[in-house]
Amino acid sequence: MSSSRSSLQSVEDQLRKLRETISHHNYRYYVLDEPVVSDAEYDRLMAELIQLEAQHPELVVPDSPTQRVGAAPVAAFGSVRHQVPMRSLANAFEEQDIVAFDKRVSDTLRTAGLLDETGAVEYMAEYKFDGLAVSLRYEDGSLVLAATRGDGQVGEDITSNIRTLRSVPLRLRGDYPSVLEVRGEVLMHRDDFEKLNESQRARGEKIFVNPRNAAAGSLRQLDPRITARRPLRFFAYGWGEISGAPFQTQSAALDWFEALGLPVNRDRRILKGSQELLEFYRQAGDQRPRLPFDIDGVVYKVNSLQRQEVLGYVARAPRYAVAHKFPAQEETTLLTDIEVQVGRTGAITPVARLKPVFVGGVTVTNATLHNEDEIRRKDVRVGDTVIVRRAGDVIPEVVGPVLDLRPEGTTLFVMPQHCPVCGSAIERLEGEAVSRCTGGLFCAAQRKQSLIHAVSRKALDIEGLGDKLVEQLVDSGRIRSLADLFTLKLEELLLYERMGRKSAQNLLAAIDKARRPSTQRLLYALGIRHVGETTARDLARHFGGIDKVMDASEEQLLNVPDVGPAVADSIHKFFAEPHNREVIRALREAGVQEQNEEQATGRALVGKTLVLTGTLPTLTRDDATRRVLAAGGKVSGSVSRKTSYVVAGEEAGSKLTKAQELGVPILDEAGLLALLEGSDEG
Ligand code: IVH
Repeated sequence: MSSSRSSLQSVEDQLRKLRETISHHNYRYYVLDEPVVSDAEYDRLMAELIQLEAQHPELVVPDSPTQRVGAAPVAAFGSVRHQVPMRSLANAFEEQDIVAFDKRVSDTLRTAGLLDETGAVEYMAEYKFDGLAVSLRYEDGSLVLAATRGDGQVGEDITSNIRTLRSVPLRLRGDYPSVLEVRGEVLMHRDDFEKLNESQRARGEKIFVNPRNAAAGSLRQLDPRITARRPLRFFAYGWGEISGAPFQTQSAALDWFEALGLPVNRDRRILKGSQELLEFYRQAGDQRPRLPFDIDGVVYKVNSLQRQEVLGYVARAPRYAVAHKFPAQEETTLLTDIEVQVGRTGAITPVARLKPVFVGGVTVTNATLHNEDEIRRKDVRVGDTVIVRRAGDVIPEVVGPVLDLRPEGTTLFVMPQHCPVCGSAIERLEGEAVSRCTGGLFCAAQRKQSLIHAVSRKALDIEGLGDKLVEQLVDSGRIRSLADLFTLKLEELLLYERMGRKSAQNLLAAIDKARRPSTQRLLYALGIRHVGETTARDLARHFGGIDKVMDASEEQLLNVPDVGPAVADSIHKFFAEPHNREVIRALREAGVQEQNEEQATGRALVGKTLVLTGTLPTLTRDDATRRVLAAGGKVSGSVSRKTSYVVAGEEAGSKLTKAQELGVPILDEAGLLALLEGSDEG
C-alpha cells in the first residue's frame, strides 16, 4: 500500500516534470524564439507524456499539453459577451495624419497638465498583425475561455480551437493574477500557409487566398481536430479584464505578458514624437517582405496608461492609439474578361482584363493568368470579383475569386480551339502546361513577336525598329517574313505613322548594316524554340554556317555540345518546314549574307595591339574596345613601337603625335571598321 502510494507519488512527479519541461520548451520556442531542443526531442517528450498518461488516466489534468486537442466537434459556437469591449483602431495612411494625431494627443495632454510646453509624447510602436483578434481568459493561471472579437461586444466561444495552438499557454507561468483577459492576434506564417495550401491542393480541398484567410478559416472550424492540424500562432498586444494590473505603461504590460509565458512580438519600440513614429513606419515597411508573417501596418499607442485614460475614446476607437496602414497590397475588383495573347513561339497566355484598381501603389488593369491549369486551379471566371495582389515590385497577380460574390451563370474558362489572331488550331501537348497556336509564321501575332525578337539587340540588332512600327508593318501586310524587312524602300517607309525622312534613312542604314550578321546572330534571330544565344553560338561554331545546320540530321545535331533531344528535335522540325527554308532563301536573295565565324568575329586582329585616341564619329570608346577585343586584338593605353595601329578620332592628342613620330599606322573609324570586317581596304 505504502509502496504503491509512493510509486504513484513518483508518477505524479514524473508527469509534473514532463509537463513543465514541455511547456518550458513551448515558452522557449514561441515566446523567447530561442528553442533549446530539436523538434524530434520535443516529440519524444510528448510521446513519453502521452504514454504515461495512458497508463494513469486518473492523473490527466485539463492543463496537460496532451489535452490541447480532444474536445468534441460542436454544431455551432456559443456566444461570449466581452466584459471589456474589444475596440478597433482608427486608421491613418498619410504622414500628415500621423503628425496631426501626435498634435491632437500632445494638445490634449498639455491642456490636462500632463505634458509641458516643449515635451514630446512617448509612444509604444509595434506591428499591426494581419490576422484575427481574439480574447483569452485565464482564471487562476488556467486558460478557461477564448473568444473572437465578433462585433466588439459579443464574440464566439472558440476555446476548444484556441487550446490547440501551441503558442497559447494552457497555464500561465510566474506571478499571475486571479483573472487575466489577454488580447491579441491569431495568424499564420507565410511558409506555413504555402505548405497548408500545397497539402490542401493535394487532397483536393479548399485553397486559401492568403494567410489571414487561412487563419480565419482554421479558427472557424467546428471540429478542433482540424484546427489542431493548422499551424496557427498568437501574439499578445492588449488586455481586457485584469484583477490588479501591475503595470503603468503599454510597454510594461507586454513585458509582463512575456514573463507570464504569453508570446509577444519583439519588434516593438518606445518612441517620442511624430518623426520617430514615421521613421518606425518606414523601417517596418522595409522589414515587411522579410518578416515570416503578414503585417498591414504599424500601431502607435500612447505608452502611459494614465495618459491613455485621459485621452479616452471616440466612438469605438481609442484616441490614444492609431493604426498607420501600408497601402493595400490586395484589392478586389471585377474580372471583366479573359483574353489570350500569342507569343513568338505561339505560346498562348490567358490574360485577365480587370476593372482598373489601385493596388500596391499602381493602377492595375491586366494580370497574367499564366495558363489553363492555373485558371482552373484558382477557379477564376469572367464576372467574378477577384482579389488582385501587387506586393513590392512584383508583377500584379490574380489571387483568386471572392466566391461569395460570384454571380449566377458564370462558366469555366476554356482555352479557345483556334488562334484568335490567325485562326490556326491551338494545341496543347501531353505533359505541357502551355497551349500553342500552330500557325507558326503564318500567324500575324507570332510574326510580330518573331520580328521584334529578330531585330533585338542580341539578334540582328537593328536600331530604330520599335514594336509600334513592327506592328504597323505586319498589319499592313508589307512584312510577312523576316526577309521582307530587307526589301523596304525609303518612299514606302515614309508612309508609316510618325516616320520622318531622317529616321527612315537611319532605319534603312541600320537594316543595311544587319545584312552581314554572324551565323550565330542569324540563327538566334530566327527564333527557333530552345535556341537561345548560347545554343546559337555552339551551332555556329560546330557547323560553320546555316546551310549545314539546315541540313543536319537529328543525330548530327546531338553531336553539338549541350544540344539535347528536345533542342535537336526543335531545330530539325524548324528547318523541315518549307516556309522556314523559304525565309532563309529569301533572306539571301535580299542580300543577307551571313559571315562565317572567322569573318564575323573577324579574328582579323589576333596578335595586334591598338591604341584608341580622340572621339570617333559613331563608335563610343567602349564599343570600339569591345569590337577590337572580340576580333582577338588588344587595346593599350600608350603608343610604342610595338603598337600595331593607332585609331584616331577628333581632338586626338599626344598619342597621335607619338604614332606619327614612331611611324605607327594611323586609322580613322572607317579604317578600323574595315579592319574588323577582315577586308584590306583600310
Ligand atoms: S490594439 C483598442 N494592436 O487591428 C485597441 N490591434 O483595428 C485595440 N491589430 O481588431 C487593438 N495588430 O485585430 C492592436 N498591435 C496591434 C494590432 C492590432 C493587429 C488588429 C486587431 C484589431 C484591429 C484594430
